[in-house]
Amino acid sequence: MIRQLPKAELHLHLEGTLEPETILKLADRNRIRLPYADVDDLASRYDFNDLQSFLDLYYANIATLQTPEDFAEMTSAYLARAVVAGVRHAEVFLDPQAHTSRGVPLEVVLDGVGSVLAASQRRFGVSTGLIVSILRDHSAESAMSTLDAVLASGVAVLGIGLDSAEVGHPPSKFVDVFAKARAEGLHTVAHAGEEGPPSYVWEALDLLKVERIDHGIRSLEDDELVRRLADEQIPLTVCPLSNVRLRVVPDISQHPLPTMLERGLLVTVNSDDPAYFGGYVDDSYEALGLPAETLHTLAANSIRASFLSDAQKSALL
Ligand code: HPA
Ligand code: ZN
Repeated sequence: MIRQLPKAELHLHLEGTLEPETILKLADRNRIRLPYADVDDLASRYDFNDLQSFLDLYYANIATLQTPEDFAEMTSAYLARAVVAGVRHAEVFLDPQAHTSRGVPLEVVLDGVGSVLAASQRRFGVSTGLIVSILRDHSAESAMSTLDAVLASGVAVLGIGLDSAEVGHPPSKFVDVFAKARAEGLHTVAHAGEEGPPSYVWEALDLLKVERIDHGIRSLEDDELVRRLADEQIPLTVCPLSNVRLRVVPDISQHPLPTMLERGLLVTVNSDDPAYFGGYVDDSYEALGLPAETLHTLAANSIRASFLSDAQKSALL
């Protein structure tokens, strides 16, 4: 039933879809030395204590991506799996700085990903948008030059986001970058309130003027913030399997998503980094163990919370 529900995926890091087998295949093809004996050895390391312990592995594995074909294959494999999950529209994150900072040219990254996204409606029946994510643990200058280079590349970009290590890197660091992105007509989102405090969610709203909050589950600690998010129906892209695997919540049965719905928040379900966190978006809906009616609401929310036009949303609802 879950796979039949038309849904949008709004919080998905393309680099987080690299399965262990793919990582080893790419390493072999590109002659990159990785410190893993085999697939089982690599898979055994997917046991995380927090966001940083995950990011360390995520960035290490990204080093296997070298050519436009590598980026294209990663993107195609995700879309092929997303179709099975019932995804009809995907707004996907990409971390350009994770590649340019290790010497891979931006054009290589954008050509590979962009060519597959551009053909996605025709090949997979999934409409797509690209959200370029800024690494918040890099400098504001690096963020600005990344934005400038992406805008100059001519590749179709839907929006700008903010990800990587949250605590110690508040949204306020990137006010100028987000102001420029907005002036250039990009949509805006930011990870906030995953490991960081509710004040980071306030900053993302008031300083970066984002249209959606990625994660946002720590907003529940601040009643005034919950009221604001509910009154303005600001979407939250929640990732239940990620929250469990990164120990933001103790286990799936204690996930606050039902409480968030009860409090009137516009909640959506997403997979974040499915190859690392134990499942794709259909698995994420399934794991919540919620009644069919609630699953329908969550799927409809995902379409409403997307950046599609009203006419496009109506066609999917
Ligand atoms: N949180 C923050 N940054 C990230 C994540 C995440 O879950 N995945 C990839 N970059
Ligand atoms: Zn994320």
